[in-house]
Parts: sequence; C-alpha cells; structure tokens
Amino acid sequence: MRAKKKLIYIALTGLGLGFVQKSAPTLKDTFKDDFYVGAALNYRQISGQDAKATALIKQQFNTISPENLLKWEAVHPQPGKYNFKPADDYVAFGQQNKMFIIGHTLMWHQQTPKWVFEDEKGQPASREVLLKHLEEHINTVVGRYKGKIGGWDVVNEAIDDQQGELRKTKWLEILGEDFAAKAFEYAHKADPKAQLYYNDYSLYRPEKREGVIKLVKGLQAKGIKVTAIGMQGHYGLTKPSIEQVEASIVAFAKLGVHVNFTELDIDVLPNPSKRQGADIAETFSADEKYNVYTSGLPDSVQQKLTQRYADLFALFHKHRDVIDRITLWGVTDADSWLNDWPIRGRTSYPLLFDRSYQPKPALQAVLQAVKKDKI
Ligand code: GLA
Repeated sequence: MRAKKKLIYIALTGLGLGFVQKSAPTLKDTFKDDFYVGAALNYRQISGQDAKATALIKQQFNTISPENLLKWEAVHPQPGKYNFKPADDYVAFGQQNKMFIIGHTLMWHQQTPKWVFEDEKGQPASREVLLKHLEEHINTVVGRYKGKIGGWDVVNEAIDDQQGELRKTKWLEILGEDFAAKAFEYAHKADPKAQLYYNDYSLYRPEKREGVIKLVKGLQAKGIKVTAIGMQGHYGLTKPSIEQVEASIVAFAKLGVHVNFTELDIDVLPNPSKRQGADIAETFSADEKYNVYTSGLPDSVQQKLTQRYADLFALFHKHRDVIDRITLWGVTDADSWLNDWPIRGRTSYPLLFDRSYQPKPALQAVLQAVKKDKI
C-alpha cells in the first residue's frame, strides 16, 4: 500500500514537473524582481474581440497602457462631453487582472481637440480660459480613476527636436513656461498618490536629454513631484546606440527620478525621415520602396531584430535599480502604429509577437537577457 502511494506520488510530481517545464517562461515572471513589463492596448483587446491577443496580454504582461483611449480627443471630445466607456473598460480590465495601470496622456500638442485652445466664442483662449479647461479635464479624468490608475503620463513631448528647447505648442504659447508645472500640479491634486511622469521620444539625443533635465529640474525647484521620466523608445535596428540610451538613463537617475521605457518598438523598415524621431506629424506618401518585407521578414533581419531586443533588455536589466517599467507599444506586429507611420499601409515587424500571435525569436532573446546580465 505504502509503495503504491509512493508510486502515485512520484507519477503526480513527475506530471507536475513536466507541466512546469513545458509551460514557457513569461515576460512578467522573468522580470518580476526587476520591473513591470507591459503593452499598450487597443479597445479590441480590452473588450475580448481580439481574444487571442487578450490571452497573450494576461499571460505575459503585468502593466498596461492605453494606446489611444485616454488621449484628450478620445475621452473628452467636446466641452463638457466625456466618453468614459472605453477608458472604464480599460481600467476594469487592468483591475481584474491585477495589473499596474497607466494613464496616457494629460497634456500633449497632438490628439487634443481644437476647442481646448479656444474660448466659448471660438476665439483663441486666454491663459485663464486654457487653465480652466486643463484643470477641469485633469480633475475629472484623474479623479475618476483615483486609486486605480497607478501612474500618469502628465506631459507628453514638450521638448523640440532641434535644440532641446520647449516645443512651440499652443500650451507654451498661451500658458507660458509654467504649462508643465500647472499640469503636474492639477494631477497631483486630483490623485496625490498617483505616480506622475514626463514622457518623450528621442531622449537619447544629448540636446533633448538636456532639455528634459532642465524642465524636470525646474519642476523640482518648485517642489513638484516627478516620479519618473518616460523614454518612449521608438527605436531603429541600429540607432540609437546602447551607449546613447544608457547615458540618458544615468543622467536622468541623477535627478533622483526613476526611468521607464514606455513605448518600446523597433522599426525594421527603411525610414525616409532624416530626423530619426517619432513625431506623429511627420508623414510621407506611400512608396513601395519603403515597404520591403510584405511577404515576411528575411532571416537576416529577424536575427538583427532579435539581437537588438537582447541588447536593449540586457541594458534595462543592468539598470533595474532605477527602471520601474518596460512597456511595448502594442502586442503583436499586426496592431503596431508602425504599419501606418510614417507611411500608411506598410507591413512592419516591431514587436515580440508576430501576426499569428506567436512569439518571435526576439522574445526568447529577451527572456535570456536576465541570465546574460548576471554573467
Ligand atoms: C507618441 C505618443 C503615443 C502614440 C505614438 C504613436 O509616441 O505618445 O501615444 O501616439 O506616438 O502611436
């Protein structure tokens, strides 16, 4: 009898072990002691219409960002008219799955309706009117998700691409140089416990890095809390260099803030832009010579992509003391914005899962990054 019991025990443990070995490691488990790993979601994934993507999200990620549905034009399209349903569902999805939920974004020069910068008569808003719009918006949106959304991209892309100066936006033009301070102040008032971020692209560039440092130091001097700087991370296969990205991580950490990689993707397609940024306003018309992998990614490029992701995650892991979160900008290659930017209708391959929801070799390489860094 005893022997039989032992046999059954061995058989069951054997089965158990077999299961553990077969179930592949996931991103969230692999990096659980280091940082959150997440993705930007669209409504089809949240609502379960894209069920395969929803399953992948639950399996792999422990933080989520809203790709579009909390941008001003989506959540607050007209004065006094809010469209909360998609955002409510997004937040409920994150809560149900015990994820760290990000809000994106409160102040940006894009995807913000015209009326925000106008008064009731359609004339350019005064500072007073624009501040009223901003405060009401932030109070309502941040207040609604108080205690549920853990961190907000308060200000997005306020530094220009040339000299790292304040970008010439309507926010700056109408409010003056304290526009960012106001947004942070209102957000902090609406949810004192929420983490508050400054988020931007091309922060590896020395001019932009210095511009952000100046901006954040200015906020800190006013006693404003900036939890982290979000480096968006819309990168190419070879640029920026790992050293450039690292220099910014180190420089930002010296401010006493944390660093997040908030919109990571790797563009493998040729880019007609000379600017190497991620300015969504910079677009080009369709041209097949820039859409070169319509029938699949050649192995040689797949390998470069794999190596690129491995190098980046090894860097992230090295700086895990200051990095709280890595968020990919999309789940599978099919949903990436890079299929439509800077040229519409291209076939792009920027993420860790392919169009059939299958892991790409880059995923395996990323999971290995932990080990590599320990050597
Ligand atoms: C910027 C924004 C994101 C998104 C991307 C492109 O990086 O911060 O919200 O719009 O552009 O999808």
